[in-house]
Amino acid sequence: MRLCMRIAEQDVRMTLSSLLGSHHTTTLRRRGVAAAALLALASWPLVAAPTSGDPSVRLSSNENAFGFSPKAKARLLEVIDSGNYYNHNETGELIKLCAKHEGVPEDYILPTPGSGPVLLMTAAAYGKPGVNVVTAAPGYPQLTSAFEKHGGSVKYVRVNAQYGQDFKAMLAAIDDKTAIVYVCNPNNPTGVLADPDELRRFIFAVPKDILVFVDEAYLELSDKGLAANTASAFVKARKNLIVSRTFSKGYGMAGLRVGYGIGHPEVLEKLKAFYMGPPSYLASVAGQEAIKDQGFLEENRKKYREVRDYVCKEFDRMGIQYASPQGAFIYFKTKVKGTELVDKMKQSGVLITRFRTPGITDDSFDEWSRVSIATKEEMDVFLGELAKVLGKT
Ligand SMILES: Cc1ncc(COP(=O)(O)O)c(C=O)c1O
Repeated sequence: MRLCMRIAEQDVRMTLSSLLGSHHTTTLRRRGVAAAALLALASWPLVAAPTSGDPSVRLSSNENAFGFSPKAKARLLEVIDSGNYYNHNETGELIKLCAKHEGVPEDYILPTPGSGPVLLMTAAAYGKPGVNVVTAAPGYPQLTSAFEKHGGSVKYVRVNAQYGQDFKAMLAAIDDKTAIVYVCNPNNPTGVLADPDELRRFIFAVPKDILVFVDEAYLELSDKGLAANTASAFVKARKNLIVSRTFSKGYGMAGLRVGYGIGHPEVLEKLKAFYMGPPSYLASVAGQEAIKDQGFLEENRKKYREVRDYVCKEFDRMGIQYASPQGAFIYFKTKVKGTELVDKMKQSGVLITRFRTPGITDDSFDEWSRVSIATKEEMDVFLGELAKVLGKT
């Protein structure tokens, strides 16, 4: 079982030095042989657990349990010994590949360590006292809470009856103080994907002087994939639009930190005042290989669909309500308060999360929790423990 195969990174290193001897490992590295040995090791069916060594089943942060492209991993190991150098030439190549992938000119791409910085730069560039951002509730808080820290306010619009974004109500919420409309698609935490026609109509209906920000962190994992739904198709036609893309989810590279913003160069220029730099040299190299390896991404998408469908069927069998999921997670409702469920599951060694729901003033989301999709084995552990906590065994 993959779960049992999870071993900590230091164990990999220890295994390597006990196989070769630590003196030998150093000698091999000096001779440039270490990369080959590590490469062989990389092909072992292991997933290194994070170094904290916490043995819990991690279903709280939407990490990709299936790992990342072996081609990206091989390239990473090839260049790891150059980690003493700054990133000089690799960002340009990454931009070129991202631009080709999105079908936009290269100056429409701003590469960052993960997509979080794009959200934070946007909040810094636009947030100030007297202006607001319109967004869905429940929703992903990174941009909105940073926007508040810069002095702006948030106008929350409750999701619709299907737990998707209510675009009509969001349009109605826009006022003369609105600086940004933030859309997360599929929405985190509800997981619901917007109808592409409705999203397009909405983007063009928002007054031109207001920035529309579409966060597509999980879009690659939706049933129809990226091309059928991405708003990056509109960045040339609507100047005031930013789309954020990450390698953390579909590509499975959360710990490597690669992402980018897509937008008109004049709009990206505003963000650049707060730019903290591109992904590291090593992350840029791995990102290049990952984006070239679309076959691996496609496989990941299929795995997510399979496991998502499996958990939904189990939820149906257990009589558990959930919102239609199209991302790396499922938002579900039980008879236990989310805060309580998260604690109880943690005691059983399974980490899930209860999203805070600013903007929701009643208790209608108190019994909702979010679980990340991982391997079927991990989801079985989750389902088993959930059944025990809910007394459904
Ligand atoms: C909706 C959404 N956007 C953005 C991010 C930021 O992730 P990263 O910085 O790893 O790209 C996350 C992370 O979980 C997310 O859920």
